[in-house]
Formats: sequence, C-alpha cells, structure tokens
Amino acid sequence: MHLCMITLLLGGLAATSQASPFSPRGLSPLGKTVDVRSLMLLMMNDQEDGSGFVDFEMPAFPSCPFGCQCNRKVVQCSDLGLTSVPYDIPADTRLLDLQGNFITEIRENDFKGLKDLYALVLVNNLISKVHPRAFLPLVGLQKLYLSHNRLTTVPRNLPSSLVELRIHDNNIKKIESRTFAGLHKMNCIELGRNPIRNSGLEAGAFDGLNLNFLRISEAKLTAIPKDLPDSLRELHLDHNQIHTIGQEDLTHYGELYRLGLGHNRLRRIEYGGLYYVQSLRELHLHHNLLSSVPAGLPEMKHLQVVYLHSNNISKVEVDAFCPSSFSVKKTFYNSISLYDNPVRYWEVQPATFRCVSDRQAVQLGNYKK
Ligand SMILES: *[C@@H]1O[C@H](CO)[C@@H](O)[C@H](O)[C@H]1NC(C)=O
Repeated sequence: MHLCMITLLLGGLAATSQASPFSPRGLSPLGKTVDVRSLMLLMMNDQEDGSGFVDFEMPAFPSCPFGCQCNRKVVQCSDLGLTSVPYDIPADTRLLDLQGNFITEIRENDFKGLKDLYALVLVNNLISKVHPRAFLPLVGLQKLYLSHNRLTTVPRNLPSSLVELRIHDNNIKKIESRTFAGLHKMNCIELGRNPIRNSGLEAGAFDGLNLNFLRISEAKLTAIPKDLPDSLRELHLDHNQIHTIGQEDLTHYGELYRLGLGHNRLRRIEYGGLYYVQSLRELHLHHNLLSSVPAGLPEMKHLQVVYLHSNNISKVEVDAFCPSSFSVKKTFYNSISLYDNPVRYWEVQPATFRCVSDRQAVQLGNYKK
C-alpha cells in the first residue's frame, strides 16, 4: 500500500476517535483538512526506532509561537487567522501545522533553520506566492501539503528528501520543465483539481523524477500525457476530457498496475493501446463513451479488475475478457463491471466470464450503483 493511501486511511480512523491533544481543530466535513494525528503516527513509523521522537524531553525554556500549541516537536498553528508564517518556530520542529489560516505568501526565510522538519502542512490558506528559496532549508522534509491554496505553479527547489507532495485544488495551469528534477525519493504526487491542460505540461516537466503514484484528476487533460515518469505504478487521470487511448500513449508506462481513466470522454482505444501495460492489475474505464470492450484484455495476464460500467457498450463477445487457453492467464478477474450499458445482458454468454474467480465478481445487470 502506498503512503498516500495510508494517510487517507489513518485520517479516516483518527477523525472518528475522541479528542486528544493532537486532534485537529476545525475538522471540516469538506475534507479540507489534514489530520495531524495520523501524520504523527506516520512520522513515528518512518523513524527507524521511533524512540527519538516519543521520548523527547521538553527543553527547560521551550519557545512556541503565540497562539500555537507545541508538544513533542509538533507545532500546531491551525485555524488561528495567521496571515504569515510565525517567525519563532522551534528549530527542532518535526511537524508544523499551519492549515486553515490566511497565509498569502511563503517568504524566503519563513522556514530558515528547520532542518529536522518532516511534515509541513499548509493546506487551506491563500498562498499564491512561494519564494524560490523558501524550501531550501528543509533538508529532511518528507511530506509537503499545499492543497486548497491559490498557487499557479508548483514551487521550485523542492527538497530532495521529499516523498509526498499534495497540491490538489490550486490554480496550477503549467508544470514547468524540470520542476521535479533531483527528487529521487518521491512516492506520490497529488495534482488533482488544477486547470492543467496537456499544453501546460512543458517538455521535460517530469524529467529526473522517480515516482510511484500520480494523480491529475479533475483537470483539463484531453489526452494521456506521454512524458510522465516511467517508474509510475499508479496513474489516476479520472474526470478529465480524454477521448482516446492512442497506440503509443502508454508506451513508457510498463510498470503501471493501476490505471484510472473513469469519467472521461473515451470513445476509442486504438488497437494495441493497452499492449505496453502488461503489468496492469486494475483498469478503470467507467463513465466513458466506449462502444465495445477494449481489445487486448485477454492477453493481460495479471488483470483482475476492469470497470466498464456506464459506457455505450452494445455487444460483449465471448472472447472479450478471457484468453482461449487458461494457462495464459496468471490471475483470474475478481471484479468486472458492465452495468449501465445498452448491451442485452441475457445475450452475453456465460463462457465470457470463464476466467473470473466467482460469479459475484461480475456486475452485469442494468442497475446503477
Ligand atoms: C452509442 O452507440 C450507438 C451505436 O451503437 C450510437 O449510435 C450512439 O450515437 C452512441 N451514443 C453516444 C452517446 O455516443
């Protein structure tokens, strides 16, 4: 499981538990907050022995920015009406929570000296400007959360220690060339809900980046971007305006095991369009305009999940999903959805699903979920 997912999971759990000294204030039902408690758990997990963090003793004269709560290297300054980053953040801070304020700008020296910082939460502010040198002092930063702000570009000079970047729901239209150069430890980037068009991805935008998980959902893409990192294992491009999977579109993405293309305008998957993604486990193509099951599925040995509901599929051939010889398929399907299509379900031959783990795994009927 990816760290991105773990954060969400823990966030969900922690949000339901009772108030603790670390429960975030002002938890909004819109999911606009980051759960600091789950971040702390992650931080402890990420430390090899964990003891350095837990058994920390308070210094004799602790400093803490006015109005914030400081405890065990966690500095919480959320929902305080701050318009800028406080100047007196303790130098040994590991987690800095500034979410839900009115910060408009990150200045050059805002994070000066915070070399131990592990996670920086700036979600839900009014940030439109980040000084290009602002993140340079953060030599140990692993998690940077900038979602729900007003940024128009991804900040430059991100720390090479970074593992996770969330910059969802900003006003980013352009990813400049080599924005992520030198980030070799990245696991996950969340770029969804930004008005990014294909033309906004400059040549080499993702050069030099090693990455497992990328999400550019709810953007303005009309095609699958071709120059994303070839290390990607998960690519989520749902809720865009992508109309075709071209023959060459997925050439670089042979490591993908999850591909999300639901809620697009796919009418066509060119012959061979799925040829390069033979490691795929999950393919989400629901809520598109496809008129047939894509060609090439029977050859995909590891494919387990295919969502095709809410398309315009009027016929399902008996060999649409399964190879003619059982030995070809390494893993049987455990989920195929076909409901909400104009196909006459009673005409689909049962043998169509001969390589499915059990009958429950096929959602065929004309009901909507
Ligand atoms: C669905 O497919 C039929 C042909 O099978 C076509 O006439 C119709 O225009 C398609 N609908 C959409 C919304 O593309």
